[in-house]
Amino acid sequence: RKKIILDCDPGHDDAVALLLAHGNPDIELLAVTTVVGNQTLEKVTRNALSVGTIAGITGVPFAAGCDRPLVRTIETAPDIHGDSGMDGPAQPESAIALDPRHAVDLIIETVMAHEPGTVTLVPTGGLTNIAMAARKEPRIVERVKEVVLMGGGYHVGNWSAVAEFNIKIDPEAAHIVFNEKWPVVMVGLDLTHQALATPDVVAQIEAVGTGPARFVRELMDFFAQTYKDAQGFDHPPVHDPCAVAYVIDPSVMTTRKVPVDIELQGTLTLGMTVADFRAPAPADCHTSVAVDLDREKFWNLVTDALIRIGDV
Ligand code: BDR
Ligand code: CA
Repeated sequence: RKKIILDCDPGHDDAVALLLAHGNPDIELLAVTTVVGNQTLEKVTRNALSVGTIAGITGVPFAAGCDRPLVRTIETAPDIHGDSGMDGPAQPESAIALDPRHAVDLIIETVMAHEPGTVTLVPTGGLTNIAMAARKEPRIVERVKEVVLMGGGYHVGNWSAVAEFNIKIDPEAAHIVFNEKWPVVMVGLDLTHQALATPDVVAQIEAVGTGPARFVRELMDFFAQTYKDAQGFDHPPVHDPCAVAYVIDPSVMTTRKVPVDIELQGTLTLGMTVADFRAPAPADCHTSVAVDLDREKFWNLVTDALIRIGDV
């Protein structure tokens, strides 16, 4: 089984990522950590615990991490995710106790406790926790198998003309993560804008007929409305589970090896993931970008995870 740490900011699509990671039999979820992003740290942590409760997750530590970006002021996304960060469905009281450790320490301890090359980091929020972990314990960089992150987009944005939310809210942290020498797979907007919750997808999920599936349906209803109003989408892109799906089965998408760096100076381009598509990629290139999604395979993974989770 593939060991992952999910570092997230739930978030409608983060919630689906967590359900996919929990329900898929090829994933061993080692820890869930939270970071300020879609909403304040307090809110996204509460949301993570309620998703964990809805999915019946036990024996997995949940820990809260950084409550602000490294340099910038906090920027949240209430227009997309609502005031709670996960508006729409009713949220249960959490049955999960928050781990007392700071997420950065939990990430470091977890990576150091496992064999080198076995733990994949899956960040689906801003990269503050991951950057802090790399700085606090640099040995994790060699030890981590790879970083498969949802964020960025080659030359396309959603939080500015050319910057994506997860990168834009903490560009300095992203700069650290993309410049460390671990393998980085950027599952960006180019890929995730192919993962639209179209009516047939929503119907497929609804047909599972369980509590967690209904929960996803309600998340998608809210997400569809805000994505229509705020970003002009006919159907909402469900970004974050795409990164988890790549870890489960890399053949769910094509990738291309290209150098990627983060713009920190540009007045118009702050937080842009600048990808250099000139061939050939340098021999030491450690970054790749996701290109094409096998939609059917992807949504079948999500549906299958919900079927396996069942009614909790
Ligand atoms: C990313 O931003 C967040 O709002 C989503 O959860 C996703 O991780 C998409 O740009
Ligand atoms: Ca997210």
